[in-house]
Amino acid sequence: MLVQYFFLRSRIYIFLSFLFLFSCDDSERKETELTIAQRVNELMDKMTLQEKIGQMNQYNGFWNVTGPSPKEGNAKEKYDHLAEGLVGSMLNVRGAKDVRAVQEVVVNQSRLGIPLIIGFDLIHGYKTISPIPLAESASWDLEAIRNSAALGAKEASAAGINWTFAPMVDISRDARWGRVMEGAGEDPYLGSLVAAARVKGFQGNDLSSSSTVAACAKHFAAYGLAESGRDYNTVDVGEHTLHNIILPPFKAAADAGVRTFMNAFNELNGIPATADKMLQRDILKGDWGFDGFIVSDWGSLKEMIVHGYAQDKKHAAELAVKAGSDMDMESYIYLAELESLIENGHVAIEQIDDAVRRILTIKFELGLFDDPFHYCDTTREQEITGSPEIREGALEMAKKSIVLLKNAEATLPLKKEGQTIALIGPLASDKNSPLGNWRIAGDNNSAVSVLEGMLKYGGNTLIHEQGVKLVNEIPAFHKEVDINNTDRSGMKAAKVAAKNADVVVMVLGEYGFQSGEGRSRSKLDLPGLQQELLEEIYAINTNIILVLMNGRPLVLNWADEHLPAIIEAWHLGTESGNAIAQVLYGEYNPSGKLPMSFPRSVGQIPLYYNHKNTGRPGTEGADAGSVFWSHYGDEKNSPLFPFGFGLSYTQFEYSEITLNETILTNGNTIEASVTLTNVGNVEGKEVVQMYIRDHFASVTRPVRELKGFELVALEPGESKEIIFEITPETLAFYSANKQWEAEPGAFSLFIGTNSATTRSVDFKLE
Ligand code: NOJ
Repeated sequence: MLVQYFFLRSRIYIFLSFLFLFSCDDSERKETELTIAQRVNELMDKMTLQEKIGQMNQYNGFWNVTGPSPKEGNAKEKYDHLAEGLVGSMLNVRGAKDVRAVQEVVVNQSRLGIPLIIGFDLIHGYKTISPIPLAESASWDLEAIRNSAALGAKEASAAGINWTFAPMVDISRDARWGRVMEGAGEDPYLGSLVAAARVKGFQGNDLSSSSTVAACAKHFAAYGLAESGRDYNTVDVGEHTLHNIILPPFKAAADAGVRTFMNAFNELNGIPATADKMLQRDILKGDWGFDGFIVSDWGSLKEMIVHGYAQDKKHAAELAVKAGSDMDMESYIYLAELESLIENGHVAIEQIDDAVRRILTIKFELGLFDDPFHYCDTTREQEITGSPEIREGALEMAKKSIVLLKNAEATLPLKKEGQTIALIGPLASDKNSPLGNWRIAGDNNSAVSVLEGMLKYGGNTLIHEQGVKLVNEIPAFHKEVDINNTDRSGMKAAKVAAKNADVVVMVLGEYGFQSGEGRSRSKLDLPGLQQELLEEIYAINTNIILVLMNGRPLVLNWADEHLPAIIEAWHLGTESGNAIAQVLYGEYNPSGKLPMSFPRSVGQIPLYYNHKNTGRPGTEGADAGSVFWSHYGDEKNSPLFPFGFGLSYTQFEYSEITLNETILTNGNTIEASVTLTNVGNVEGKEVVQMYIRDHFASVTRPVRELKGFELVALEPGESKEIIFEITPETLAFYSANKQWEAEPGAFSLFIGTNSATTRSVDFKLE
C-alpha cells in the first residue's frame, strides 16, 4: 500500500493515481493515505518542542569531509543529543553496521525512538563508482541514467543509506565552476529530463523498499550561476533567467516526485538562498505544491552571518525557518535557537510543526518506523557491494558517456594486432583520477586504468610512459592537487616510446580532484606540464590519439588543430579503463554528445548555445570592416565544440525536415520529421536533436532551444524516420505576464546532429 501512497503523492503520477482510484478498493486507499498522516499527527502530539526541533537538526557523522570543520559541538555532545532524541538526521554515517549502531542509540535510548534519516552524497555511485553526472548526461540516454542511479541506490541502501543528496540539477554556463561535473550541463531541457530520470532511479516506485533512497534536488537555487565561476560566489540573475533557465530542472525533479530539496550556499539577488522565502515557500512549497522537506546546505545557516544578511545565530534561525528551510545541516543553530524564538513569539509554532510533519512523513514513507534497521543487513551489504550487476551497469554507463570529438581519416578504432602503441601520460595508468570527485565510499585507486583496460587486448605491443607525474598520487581530500609542473624527468623516456610507436595514445586531463566542490579554475588548459608533453611528443610522432579525463569542458584548440583523434572520456568511474579500451578498439561505437559547450578561450565564458540574439548579433565575419557588432576582436564567438556535439565511427545522413502543417493552433500538434540513415560501415547510435527558435516575443527569446531528442540505433545502410511532435506547450516560456505560456508568432525549427545544425523549417503559432 505504501507503493500506492507514494504514487499518489507524486504529481507526475497523477494519471496512475487516477487509475488506482478505480483499480483498488477506495476505502482501503483512503485509510492508507490517512494512516501516515495520522501516525505523524499522533507522534507529534507526544513530542515536546525540543524533540520537534531535534527532528530539524542534522549532524555529520565524522569530520572534515565535505565542508569546513565544525567549530562548535563535539562528538560526546552529539552522541548525547542522539540519545536525547535531539537529532533527526545524520549524514556520512555509512556501512550497515555503523548505521545500525547510530540508529540503535536513537531508537533504543531516546524517549520516542524516532529513527534517523541517513543522508549521504551518493552522487555517482557508492562503492562502485559510476561516471560523473556530467559524463552520464553526455549519453543522452535517460534509461541508462535512471538505471545508473537505481544501481547506486541499491548499493548505498545496502550500506545503510536511505537518503541521497542528489541529483544536483544546477544549470551552469561556466566551465570554470568546478561543480559542473556534478550536473547535467548548460541546457534546461536536457537538464530537466536527466533530473527526472535520476530522481526515478534513486527513489524507484517504492520508497519503503530497502533498495531505494529518497532523492534531493539541489542546490535551490541558482548556485550554478556563480559570478566568474568561483564557487560560493554571488549570483545575480534576472527573473526570466531564473524561471526559464534555472528553475525548470528543479520543477522537473519536483514533478518526478523528489522527496527533498537542498537550498544553497549562494545569495540570489541579495538574499542568501537559505533565507529565500520567495524560492522556498512561494515557488516550491506554494506554486509547485512540494510536500517534502528542504534541508539547508552544510552550515549555510551560519554563513548567512558572513554574507551580512543575518545579524547573529538567532536571527539566522529565524530567517531560515520563516523562509521554509526545514532542516539545519551542520550549523547547530536550530537546536540552539528555535526554542527561545518560539517562546518570545518571533517564530510561530505552526512553522515548526510544518517542518517536522514533512520530515516525519518521509521517514514513514521510507518504512523507518516499521523497521528502523531495514537498510542495515550486513549479509545483504556483502552480497550487493560491487556485485556483477552493479559493475556491469557502471561499465555500460561509462561506454555510453564517452564523446568522440575528432576522428580524422578514421584514425580510430585502433587495429587489434601488429601495432606498437605508446601509451603516454600521467593519467594513463592512474587508478584514482577516473573515480572523479564524489566518491566518499569508494576505495582509492580502485578504478580500472586505461593501461589495464588496453592490456586486455593482447595483439599489439604496448609501451607505457607517464611523461609527466602527478604531484600527489593519493591526496588528502582537502589538499589542492595538481599535475606536475616542474618535473620533466619522465619526458625523455616518453619521447623514446613515441618514436618507436605506430600510434601514440596520450591520456591527459584533470586529476580526479581538480574538479568538484571548491575546485574552480581560472584557466581551462591541460594542467601542469601536459600541454608541453603533448607538443614534445607531437614533434616526434604526429599520430596521436588524445584521451581526455576531466570534469569540465577544457580549451582544446591546439589539440583540435594538430591531432587526428580526440576522445572525451571524463571521469568515468570504476570501469573507466575497460570502457575506454573498448572504444579505442572499436568494440563499442561511441555515441555521446556534449552537454556543455567547449570554449575556444576562457574569455568567451559564460558560453552557451541558447544565448540571446542581441541587437547586433555576432554573425562571424559578416561585416569584417566594422567593429560595431557583438563580438571579440581576437576570438570567434562560437565554441570550439558546440553543445550536442559528438561523432561516431559510422556516419549519419539527415534528410530535409518535413512538417505536416506549417500553422499550429491551440489544442493541435505539428509533426516534424526527418529520415536518418546510417551511411557508414558499422552500426551506431545517433542523438537526433530538435531545436526551436521563437522569433518575437514579450521577452526576448534565445536563438534556439533544445525541445526534443531521440537516441536512434541503426545498422549500416538502415534508415529510420524520426518524428517530433510540437504542441503549443512545447513553445511555452515564462513570459512578460509572469506565467508559462506560448505566444503566437513565427518560429523556426531545426533538426540535426548538434546545436549548430542549420537544417531548418519555419512554422507559425496562431
Ligand atoms: C556541501 C555541498 O554543497 C552539498 O552539495 C553536499 O550535499 C553537502 N556539502 C553535504 O556533503
